[in-house]
Amino acid sequence: MAGRIPQDFIDDLVERADIADVIGSRIQLKKQGREYKAPCPFHSEKTPSFTVSAQKGFYHCFGCGAHGTALGFLMEFDRLEFPEAVEELAQMLGLEVPRGEQTENRTAVTPIFEMLTEAARLYQQALKKHSPAAEYLKSRGLDGSTVRDYGIGYAPPGWDFLLQHFDTKDETRRHLKSAGLIAERDQGGFYDRFRDRIVFPIRDSRGRVIGFGGRIIGNEEPKYLNSPETAVFHKGRELYGLYEARRATRKLNRLLVVEGYMDVVSLARHGFQDSVATLGTATTPEHLRRLFRVAQDITFCFDGDRAGRDAAWRALQTSLPEMREGRQVRFLFLPDDEDPDSVVRAEGSQGLNERLQNTVPLSDYLLRELKAQTDTDSVDGRARLAELARPMLKNIPDGFYKTLLTDRLATEIGMGREKLTALLGDAESARRSTGRPSRLRRPAGRQPTLIRQAIQVILNYPSVRAQITPPEHLPNVRQRGAALLVEILEIAAQKPNINPAGVLERFRDRPEYPHLVSLLAEEFLIDIEVAGSVLDDNLRRIISEAEQHRFAELVEAANERNLNADEKDELRRLSQIDSDSTG
Ligand code: CTP
Ligand code: MN
Repeated sequence: MAGRIPQDFIDDLVERADIADVIGSRIQLKKQGREYKAPCPFHSEKTPSFTVSAQKGFYHCFGCGAHGTALGFLMEFDRLEFPEAVEELAQMLGLEVPRGEQTENRTAVTPIFEMLTEAARLYQQALKKHSPAAEYLKSRGLDGSTVRDYGIGYAPPGWDFLLQHFDTKDETRRHLKSAGLIAERDQGGFYDRFRDRIVFPIRDSRGRVIGFGGRIIGNEEPKYLNSPETAVFHKGRELYGLYEARRATRKLNRLLVVEGYMDVVSLARHGFQDSVATLGTATTPEHLRRLFRVAQDITFCFDGDRAGRDAAWRALQTSLPEMREGRQVRFLFLPDDEDPDSVVRAEGSQGLNERLQNTVPLSDYLLRELKAQTDTDSVDGRARLAELARPMLKNIPDGFYKTLLTDRLATEIGMGREKLTALLGDAESARRSTGRPSRLRRPAGRQPTLIRQAIQVILNYPSVRAQITPPEHLPNVRQRGAALLVEILEIAAQKPNINPAGVLERFRDRPEYPHLVSLLAEEFLIDIEVAGSVLDDNLRRIISEAEQHRFAELVEAANERNLNADEKDELRRLSQIDSDSTG
């Protein structure tokens, strides 16, 4: 949905915002040199390790690893979604977020939302008229107010309940289809997607209906039918019940993550309004980030069957990168063949509450599973335990939580933490040096460092882009990070006033984001006065090293086979380049 706000506006917003003002309006900052410091608002600490750099437009906590731009801070601290954070920041600066009617997306999604809202209303009405449907919900223990809160409805049987209601214009049909409410027959014509099903409207963070889940009343298949992916509905992102949970409880401490629609509404019926469900998909990283934006304590409570246990283990893996101090992930394992709905109905809210007192913390679950796979009585088994834990520990961000888990693992293995860390690290670098073909990596070491440094300069001081002319051949350099460097140089060229945070925002949803964040978080000692010439020099050296590399590659190839004409030309050209220019 971020796409609907013009990128130019976001650039401008981030550039204008004084991050010290933004964060200073929420917590007390103390000026210290060129930066500001405070006790970190995201974890508890005595000595302040939360740092705000106005120049970079960036905050970073050395204690728990929290970091981000002004927008990122508002998302984390105020628990806002990205568009909401943009709104908030714009308001602080007295700006209006342009949601121009003229933008493509806007015109495309508005009628979709209208169709979905109307459909939800029609389904709710139909529920009142069809007593078997209402009876069914009653038989599942639901009451009127839960049905109302969640807007549960009923799609009557037949193929054209919705079609009959709307007009027959092509445009209307097209919108209904884009909304996922009707489907087209191969031989032409349309039919309602949801028929003779209880329908659960799925709402976005603003409460707008974006899709439906439909449950069959009898025993036919499929038991559940969901809206297809549409312009406004993305299964991997949405959580059923999140809007309702936020609306019911002002400040959510915990969220229960369950598997099904029925689980959510049944739990709500018994007073657990803080439950949400993924939509028939595994828990995605995007889900996790949304969950943690709303609550610090996430409890996964999946069905007591094989699929549920597998889902829990996958949820654990997905959670690891999000584990920061102050955050909790727990698991509630249910008896065989039970789900949260059946448990709360059989045991009542008290029974479920008791179970919730006995959840398994992520760290316990992790160690328990790993130990089940190894024989920790033997030296081999303990080594294997370390081996199994390695990729998982690697996924946890540095900080308190990782230290804690490493400590526990060290105890299990009967080894000091330092030693274990060294062991994990050593094996890691050993594998790195042997695992890759060295031939492609020759002039060892230097190139990545040069590119890294160049990225660091342009990221910290985008304005120096105006002082330099990047070498013509830079886009041809195939070294890791080179494409990213070229991209950032291009952004800086187009936006001479962009600040580091603005560059970072451009990458918010990209895989490079964490990498850029850690580069920016690093202390950077180069002064802006010399940054232009440092960068210029850097870029030149990147080119000349790439050329030397290519030269060596061609020489090597020439020893093994005949070069083609282009390669020969290239080799000739490269051999004339003065190798001293590397400096
Ligand atoms: N699901 C789905 N399609 C199916 C079955 C399940 O999309 N054919 C998704 C739905 O989101 C459903 C969830 O998986 O809510 C859990 O499925 P299941 O455990 O089978 O159903 P319950 O939620 O227990 O539903 P009920 O109690 O009504 O049988
Ligand atoms: Mn069920």
